[in-house]
Amino acid sequence: MAENSSALRIVGPARLVGEVMVTGAKNSALKLMAASLLAPGVNTLQNVPQIADVDIMADLLSRLGCTVNFDRNTRVMTIDVPQTPGHRAEYELVRRMRASINVLGPILTRVGIAEISLPGGDAIGSRGLDFHIAGLEAMGAKVSFEHGYIIAKAPDGLVGAEFELAFPSVGATENLMTAAVLAKGTTTIHNVAREPDIVDLGEYLISMGAKIEGLGSTTLVIQGVESLSAATHATLPDRIVTGTWAFAAVMTQGDITIKGGRADHLELPLDKLVAAGAVVTTTSDGFRVKMDRRPTAIDISTLPYPGFPTDLQPMAITLNSIAQGSAIVTENVFEARFMFVNELKRLGAKITVDGHHASIIGVEQLSGAPVAATDIRAGAGLVLAGLVSEGITIVEDAFHIERGYPNFAADLCALGADVRIN
Ligand code: UD1
Repeated sequence: MAENSSALRIVGPARLVGEVMVTGAKNSALKLMAASLLAPGVNTLQNVPQIADVDIMADLLSRLGCTVNFDRNTRVMTIDVPQTPGHRAEYELVRRMRASINVLGPILTRVGIAEISLPGGDAIGSRGLDFHIAGLEAMGAKVSFEHGYIIAKAPDGLVGAEFELAFPSVGATENLMTAAVLAKGTTTIHNVAREPDIVDLGEYLISMGAKIEGLGSTTLVIQGVESLSAATHATLPDRIVTGTWAFAAVMTQGDITIKGGRADHLELPLDKLVAAGAVVTTTSDGFRVKMDRRPTAIDISTLPYPGFPTDLQPMAITLNSIAQGSAIVTENVFEARFMFVNELKRLGAKITVDGHHASIIGVEQLSGAPVAATDIRAGAGLVLAGLVSEGITIVEDAFHIERGYPNFAADLCALGADVRIN
């Protein structure tokens, strides 16, 4: 997808058939980039996706004194980190992407002070920072808010502590894990997130010399070390992009082989797609999703990993919009994540929202219309809706989609869809 594209024009209906390649995960690459601040010298990240958010994080790291080089052909990024990185992340960058907050833990633990503008990012709920702050305070940091910035100080370094997260927040787990690796003593964090992205980040930290036990479980035990050394790490494949392709195959009654896709990171979503009527088979380097009938409606409840991912919730609602029967989709992670439902209704979907439940009655086919993307995943969900709509659907504000899906329009065309950047 070209830079600054503003809309995608989709002519439906489409049937997607063929092969697609999944590259590194946005939600992992951004955190690996931020965590590089922990190790002075040249860190190397492989399989980094070519998406707008990666460019924003690269920009942020450059402002913090790093030299970042990204070879878009090989998808290899090098990050040369100075002995003492900067400690202030300005509003102008942070407001564009919530994951900027991931520099907080690494900067505080390395420099003893961090001043980070309060983040922006997707408009999908309140997304507080209270768990991040409570954990840093438990490790001895003094945290205050001034002029829209969070200011965290630990001039003598952080100190290991034992505490529990009130909710297994992905961002808080990452920030606190990256802070604890250089703290004095042992930090034990209970009720942590178990997403594959957390495991990926932990493995990168371990390759830098960090001492972490319990990755992928609900408790992390981190023994602080004096310093970390630059390392090389390959980003894990994008679980949400992979899941998006799997939903697209089912909705369009298509047949897609997803190269590089990890079926083991999507057990629940794939079980749901099988319940909807899909046939999922593993291949040598990914898996294949085939569907030869209208999908059956599927009830879904989002939950932290290994539950059904909230980032695939828009795809689940879209699938149910054209399914046989009716279903309830419950959102348990982000409170305001049904905003795109009104857009979907413009295409003829029959959806009623009540609090964090959406009840959907499937219709045979949607009908193309202009709609607007409100965040990355809602945007992708609307594109899938366009594929199962009769006529032309224009998805406005497609820059949201570029933040998470490299070459989405080109990949869709290669699978047989009629999609143009408007
Ligand atoms: C990450 C992902 C996002 C995904 C989400 C849940 C990135 C860049 N983004 O977001 O795509 O949808 O995980 O899988 O990786 N919360 C608080 N206080 C806090 C922290 C979180 O109340 O201190 C709340 C949030 O408002 C939200 C819930 O906890 O309701 C989950 O948030 P969290 O897991 O932290 O999501 P992110 O890390 O922001």
